[in-house]
Amino acid sequence: MNSTNDIRRAFLDYFASNDHEVTPSAPLVPYNDPSLMFVNAGMVPFKNVFTGMETPPAPRATSSQKCVRAGGKHNDLDNVGYTARHLTFFEMLGNFSFGDYFKERAIELAWGMVTQELGLAKDRLSVTVYHTDDEAFDLWRKIAGLPEDRIIRIPTKDNFWAMGSDGPCGPCSEIFWDHGPAVAGGPPGSPDEDGDRFVEIWNLVFMQHVQEADEIVGNLPRPSIDTGMGLERMATVMQGVHNVFETDTFATIIESSQDLLKSKATEDTIASHRVIADHLRSTSFLIADGVLPSNEGRGYVLRRIMRRAMRHAHLLGAEKPLMHRLVPTLVSEMGQAYPDLGRAQPLITEVLEREEARFRQTLEKGLRLLDEESAGLAEGDQLPGETAFKLYDTFGFPYDLTEDALRARNIGVDKDGFDAAMALQKAAARAAWKGSGAAADGELWFDIAEREGATEFTGYSASEGEGRVVALVVDGKEVPSADSGQDVIVLTNQTPFYGESGGQMGDSGTISGDHRLEIAVADTSKPLGRLHAHHGTITSGKIAVGDTVHLAIDAGRRDEIRANHSATHLVHAALRNQLGDHVTQKGSLVARDRLRFDFSHPKPLSAADIAAIESEVNAEIRSNQEVVTRLMSPDDAVEAGALALFGEKYGEEVRVLSMGRRGAGGRNYSVELCGGTHVRATGDIALFRIVSESAVSSGVRRIEALTGEAARQWVVGREESLKSVAATLKTSPEEVEERVAALVDERKRLERELAEAKKALALGGGGGAAAAADEDVGGIAFSGQVLDGMDPKELRGLLDEAKKRMGSGVAAIIAVNDGKATVGVGVSDDLTGTISAVDLVRAGVEAVGGKGGGGRPDMAQGGGPDGDKADSAIAAIKEAVLRVSA
Ligand code: ALA
Repeated sequence: MNSTNDIRRAFLDYFASNDHEVTPSAPLVPYNDPSLMFVNAGMVPFKNVFTGMETPPAPRATSSQKCVRAGGKHNDLDNVGYTARHLTFFEMLGNFSFGDYFKERAIELAWGMVTQELGLAKDRLSVTVYHTDDEAFDLWRKIAGLPEDRIIRIPTKDNFWAMGSDGPCGPCSEIFWDHGPAVAGGPPGSPDEDGDRFVEIWNLVFMQHVQEADEIVGNLPRPSIDTGMGLERMATVMQGVHNVFETDTFATIIESSQDLLKSKATEDTIASHRVIADHLRSTSFLIADGVLPSNEGRGYVLRRIMRRAMRHAHLLGAEKPLMHRLVPTLVSEMGQAYPDLGRAQPLITEVLEREEARFRQTLEKGLRLLDEESAGLAEGDQLPGETAFKLYDTFGFPYDLTEDALRARNIGVDKDGFDAAMALQKAAARAAWKGSGAAADGELWFDIAEREGATEFTGYSASEGEGRVVALVVDGKEVPSADSGQDVIVLTNQTPFYGESGGQMGDSGTISGDHRLEIAVADTSKPLGRLHAHHGTITSGKIAVGDTVHLAIDAGRRDEIRANHSATHLVHAALRNQLGDHVTQKGSLVARDRLRFDFSHPKPLSAADIAAIESEVNAEIRSNQEVVTRLMSPDDAVEAGALALFGEKYGEEVRVLSMGRRGAGGRNYSVELCGGTHVRATGDIALFRIVSESAVSSGVRRIEALTGEAARQWVVGREESLKSVAATLKTSPEEVEERVAALVDERKRLERELAEAKKALALGGGGGAAAAADEDVGGIAFSGQVLDGMDPKELRGLLDEAKKRMGSGVAAIIAVNDGKATVGVGVSDDLTGTISAVDLVRAGVEAVGGKGGGGRPDMAQGGGPDGDKADSAIAAIKEAVLRVSA
């Protein structure tokens, strides 16, 4: 029961059996606290529970929390490898009371755990209390029965614990283990307390106060308990060693590194093995929690840790990248307690291997420069800051790596000189940028980006979290604060809000905070491609630079956007499969309610093409494969078959999204470079429907499509209209097709019959309908008729019939269709010498608003737009006959 895994299990079981809820470790990136780089203590995930802002998961809880102490307020990076107990990554076992029990029970539980569960010898334990905490002093005497000389009062901050400069805090009491006189060092509070003989194994914090900027500003609603037992240190005690690197987990990793390097660690090389083992743990867990190496923020701390380990691998003579080959050992040691580690194993392996391969390209040259520049330096000297900057800038040596490299020779680095060289380079970049004639409002963004660095985007995995306000912009200018009613652009150090880019719309949501602050964020843009600018209106309260605010995106809207974005990747792949490799993306829009995808293709898509594309995409959706994101150099990504995303500029690393099933060669259905946000698995898209296909310009087509609920509603809408058509036709949806076909046939038949009936009517027949009566116009027989709905094609036949009937005379017929008039005039042969049908038609056409008309003297035709003036046309023709006959 002495293994690290056993101790963790025993601790959690003990507190579970004492009514504590076992809560899983929170991720290392603290989305709930912008003042922290990484979770650095077991209580961080409960910070808001202590202050009363969040309801506790239970009155008592226990956890084994992953912690990283590097790059923030608690930074142990520089010491790792050289001391017996510093680690960048460690596990903190803790028990928590949220206003439930306090000092007495906390001490009872701790004492029971240490002496009974773990069976530690009482005479090798001592404790410390804050110098004014008489209550704790008395309790230790009463509960543990410790002699007074082993309850040590400490007057310093060592016995007053605070999470950071802001947050809950209180006096604390620490339990120490005495490794025995064989190890150098004195008890806590003594001059040689820093030795390794007496080590702190457990810290009990009596949480009572809240501090801001390192000052106590108030009390917690109810006194609470937070404790932290370093698992690795407890393992040293249980395993009878006094250096954390000699405990089982580390020993196994170090054995692996020795095997891989085929060399046993010596006194000279052991520190390097230790650095590698520790850094392997911190980097792997950080990658598993979504941090990826970059040149800013958390990603840069990760890179610093990685590269530090990689220099040590080089020192040990590793001929090829080493770190990633240790991952299987780490996963077999810790994967059971932290399943996320196993799940992320491929990503961790890939990221480590790539980073190491890349760093090795400049490492050797950098080390040569370092050797040359430091050759003349003696112990206690400093390397010039400019050299450290050159190593940073040209060879990718993080500052602390240079420090670490010179450490063995006791040579320091001129930090001021390094900072000055860095400032000079930034000024030069700024001057060059200004000279490039970039847009005026760009300067504002440039200033902010240079001062604050890029905004860290937490929204690939989180939909809400805290951020520190780094800038506020009102009417194009930076302001220190803004009030209710104002439109404001808010910039924070980190945010879950996606800034519009790569076709994906920016997020909307709310920003809230103290003093009733509420901001309705309508949109998020991404100036300079690095800042996330929240555009909103303050609906209540006020906001100032430096405030900590809560940022929450409209998560439902984002889910719809995710589905649409992932669907554009699938449709891209389907289009290429169905139409050919000439299809390339020409643009896209990913909104909440729809997606648009423009692509190169010379002709419209057929209904069969569209059906095949829809069917392919939906089959991938149903396969419900997990969407996998990897980080690669652009070249590697293209080699892996990734389709480049339209219109994006690529940095040194790109995100590669693999989606859908694996096909031949193990390649996923879709592999694309993309910085957007995507579904977890393709099944989240639910349904895909193409709703339109059109031309954008020559050679570029556009598809518009819907996914998820929008697609479902579209289908429902279609079904509703089918049902209502069926109801109107008094049939069922299933029989609509047949019914409509029958109706169309019937209509054709009726039209035919109607035309015949009208003809018969015009000819005077038709079962009693009155034929046109002939008139005498100046001695000439005249027949004039207006026929509504008569097909103009029938005019000639009707006029012939009329002429035949009259023997001698003039017949005029006006067919009116869709409001237009067609004028026809027939003149019997005996009259064509004096009367021309063409002249008569022209008179009629003029009356119906037309011009001209043509034909022969015995038969002419023309048309005009004013069907309602057909009677006037008859009158006009009659008058024209009268004029000729007179
Ligand atoms: N939060 C306390 C610590 O980290 C227990 O030491």
